[in-house]
Amino acid sequence: MNPVWTLDTLYRWMLRPYLFGLDAESAHRLTLAMLSAVPPFSTPKDPPELSVKLWGVDFSNPVGLAAGMDKDAVAFSGWQTLGFGFAEMGTITPLPQPGNEAPRIWRIRERRALINSLGFPSEGMDAVARRIERIRNSGNAIRLGLNFGPNKETPVTGVAADYAALMARMGALADFVVINVSSPNTPGLRNWQSPEKMREIFNAMREHGGETAHRVPLLLKIAPDLARDDLFRICDTALELKLDGIVACNSTIARDALGVSSPHPGGLSGQPLKIRARELIHDIYTHTGGKIPIVGVGGVASAEDAWSHIRAGASMVELYTGLIYEGPALVTRIKAGLADLLQRGGFRSIGEVVGIDNK
Ligand SMILES: Cc1cc2nc3c(=O)[nH]c(=O)nc-3n(C[C@H](O)[C@H](O)[C@H](O)COP(=O)(O)O)c2cc1C
Repeated sequence: MNPVWTLDTLYRWMLRPYLFGLDAESAHRLTLAMLSAVPPFSTPKDPPELSVKLWGVDFSNPVGLAAGMDKDAVAFSGWQTLGFGFAEMGTITPLPQPGNEAPRIWRIRERRALINSLGFPSEGMDAVARRIERIRNSGNAIRLGLNFGPNKETPVTGVAADYAALMARMGALADFVVINVSSPNTPGLRNWQSPEKMREIFNAMREHGGETAHRVPLLLKIAPDLARDDLFRICDTALELKLDGIVACNSTIARDALGVSSPHPGGLSGQPLKIRARELIHDIYTHTGGKIPIVGVGGVASAEDAWSHIRAGASMVELYTGLIYEGPALVTRIKAGLADLLQRGGFRSIGEVVGIDNK
């Protein structure tokens, strides 16, 4: 029997109805508990044409887990077993903090979307670093992004130092680091997307982030709600600072413009975000002349979605909300679909397709 089909059927007919009967955060906790119990099965090797090399790092495929699903890095083996090419852990904050009050995740089923106002619940960098060190020592080799954010109680004058402290403690454990300045749920955070603030964070990380700060790839995660001029200023600053990449994008505060009406506060993710994410990817790619690698995130729930983000300019993609609605077979399905699209288009690698819609 086809294992993907079996997993799909199991999810659609049994697991999803059960999980969707729970409130969204309880379902999330249960999913993580199940995934953290998954032993590290040896998964089928990815076809070589799906491999991507970025920043000198080899990724066996371009499909990654987006930040927020596994904030404290508890389900490493699970992500590898599901077939992800990499997983972004976090957002991790320097000190432990509880995040906002529940309820703070809501499903919008008819739009295949989520709204969250979590506000960075985190076990804090020491606990998460110790867990990653332990799992790494047991031989788990999945490529890892670490996503950093400041504590809620940190005054504005201490935010850059928070990012530097995270880099100093955890940078060496990452294949790449993501500076998250785009969550809508931490007051004032998005102001750090301005060029002056970007420089402040970047300089603090390089000066006080320890020796690894000079060699680990550093990416900036941006919001989808930026005006175009502001986006272009961010791109110019990223080039000036020689940032290694841009993750586009975080969840959005937009509602009406995306045809979503909901009373819940926070960031909207999933299908309604897809077109906006693709526009951003396109704008970044064309404005920078393809000089900065883009990790495309937002509304990916099929091979065609991933393919379109890549054609718009993304070197790799990530997903979160799609996993909730489509289930664990999604990653395998996207990879098979991408391999098929490559073959049908006569392409030999993902790299050949990156940004092709803009050429
Ligand atoms: C419940 C939830 C929690 C999230 N938490 C974080 C987070 O801690 N840090 C972050 O950078 N992005 C976070 N995100 C945003 C995702 O990483 C991603 O950028 C966004 O959801 C768009 O992708 P998607 O449409 O595939 O979900 C979160 C998203 C969701 C749905």
